[in-house]
Amino acid sequence: MRIRSNTYEKVCHLIASNIRDKVKHQSHVVLGLATGSTPIGIYEKLSKMKNTNFGDTITFNLDEYVGIDKHHDQSYQYFMNKHLFSNLNFRKHYFPTEENWNEYDLMIKNSGGIDIQILGIGTNGHIAFNEPGSNRYSSTRIVDLTENTIKDNSRFFDNIEDVPTKAYTMGLSSIMGAEKIYLVAVGKHKKEILEEAVHGNITEDIPASFLQEHPNCEVYYSE
Ligand code: PGA
Repeated sequence: MRIRSNTYEKVCHLIASNIRDKVKHQSHVVLGLATGSTPIGIYEKLSKMKNTNFGDTITFNLDEYVGIDKHHDQSYQYFMNKHLFSNLNFRKHYFPTEENWNEYDLMIKNSGGIDIQILGIGTNGHIAFNEPGSNRYSSTRIVDLTENTIKDNSRFFDNIEDVPTKAYTMGLSSIMGAEKIYLVAVGKHKKEILEEAVHGNITEDIPASFLQEHPNCEVYYSE
């Protein structure tokens, strides 16, 4: 694995174009999608691809907060509607929820598995909400968010007390099962953890380091 550095604009263009090409050439595509500030530019590019038919594509989001209504403006369902789903018609989109989290990995498997997975990285090395200490073979589950993650995410809330402390997260097993992964880190504050994840030891302490074992993971960094 190596880190490819480029402008955010170019990284988003490349990933969105690769998704479009996959959707054009394969009849039934399954995308794994992330929320947060990192993928917004990718969704902006995809949203403009009105000539591509995404009607046979289904999506599985990585995570969602526990105890937050899907209409709440900080829910990940709200985020995805705003940035992507209101602009493009997918066949179906799924999030891990109270009703389905126990079957989420099976739903992914039954859909044929994830073709392309977009990932950001937390400043503590998490991917999705697989926080440090997460098992390489973990399944989709409910997790406690770390202090670090709650603090990082508090920028989107009025008070830190309003940030949910639990989330449903896709496990590392389904993420590692994706055919292709794009790991994207944006900003100087992500550089050190990205380098550790890519070049350091493979360890539960930095869940993103497991991606070193993935056969087809591309890593992008933009300042
Ligand atoms: P960000 O979050 O895209 O908002 O930086 C990434 C993450 O925590 O996985």
